[in-house]
Amino acid sequence: MEREIRFFDTTLRDGEQTPGVHFDAETKVTLARRLEDFGAAVVEAGFPASSPGDAEAVRRVAEALERAEVAALARCHAGDIDAAAEALAPARRPVVHVVLGVSDIHLAKKLRMSRAAAVRAIAESVTRARRRVERVQFSAEDASRADPVFLRQCAQAAADAGASRVNLPDTVGCALPEEYGAMIADVAAFLDRSVIVSAHCHNDLGLATANTLAAVRAGARQVEGCVNGLGERAGNAAVEEVAAALRLKRIAATGIRLEQAAELSRLVAEAAGVPVQPNRALVGANAFTHSSGIHQDGLLKDPETYEFVSPALVGAPGHRFVITARSGRAAVAREAARAGVNVAPGDVDRVYRAVLRAADARGGAVDPEEIARIAAGV
Ligand code: KIV
Ligand code: ZN
Repeated sequence: MEREIRFFDTTLRDGEQTPGVHFDAETKVTLARRLEDFGAAVVEAGFPASSPGDAEAVRRVAEALERAEVAALARCHAGDIDAAAEALAPARRPVVHVVLGVSDIHLAKKLRMSRAAAVRAIAESVTRARRRVERVQFSAEDASRADPVFLRQCAQAAADAGASRVNLPDTVGCALPEEYGAMIADVAAFLDRSVIVSAHCHNDLGLATANTLAAVRAGARQVEGCVNGLGERAGNAAVEEVAAALRLKRIAATGIRLEQAAELSRLVAEAAGVPVQPNRALVGANAFTHSSGIHQDGLLKDPETYEFVSPALVGAPGHRFVITARSGRAAVAREAARAGVNVAPGDVDRVYRAVLRAADARGGAVDPEEIARIAAGV
């Protein structure tokens, strides 16, 4: 049987940590419903202890979702855990997400805590969360820079206290795929099989998706990410990228309805006020746009020549040609026809040369109306 990977979507929590982004409660509910429909197994709604507004937003998401689990973040503080549990009270499947930095850098410089105190804090906090909810996730923040032996000890303390998921974030995005995969494999082999090991990767080296895939290969059963790769600094792994790679490379089933990805990406970009870069994989405006004559010729013969991913996979409208000085005759004739002017075979060469002159003069793309005007003139 094919493996099944759970998606833990954190667009509404880590994604909201994108500099300048704020989702109000209404927006979180709208997006959470879309994420549930998209197939996220867990929707992380926010960090209730951070503000009364976010506590209210988490409560509204908890009320709204029917199938997905709803998670809320809490540091290893009694007040955070209680705030998360209270905000999640209306949820059908609440998850309290307890986090503690476990690298020596975090322990010594941020938390000013010994390793022994950290293990106690994890055990106490997970125990406290388990008194309120059945499902507790522990995140060993900065796991990729932690001492591997101590990391195992933290993961085991969380599992012993009742955490059913242990997340091992590459918080600062410093890991290479082989390093991240080795860490996941090590902890997964150490813990009881009933504990789900989760991957959470940041994109500081542009490796978030690659690292997440390495984690799946190494035994992670849950992956975390944000739509459009939103998140702190350079962002998190993009859920649509991870889901598409798992599907197209036949690595695992995901339950993600990828055909909704283009629309979801647009909604998240609008709500966040963060436009999608044109060359973004799968959801950027150029993801299925072809510019060179060699590629356009191939596409016209068979899309498989230059499209590994088909636009239909992510619900994009289809591929698009832009006509520039690098385009070819067939594409120019096709664009003229699409703009309403059919070019007779004997005229194609003259139209093509006229379009090339326009493209060279402009130093960029020639729009469809101008192609039609040139074709009509010829
Ligand atoms: O990147 C990180 O370590 C996090 C944790 C809060 C899970 O986002
Ligand atoms: Zn993160």
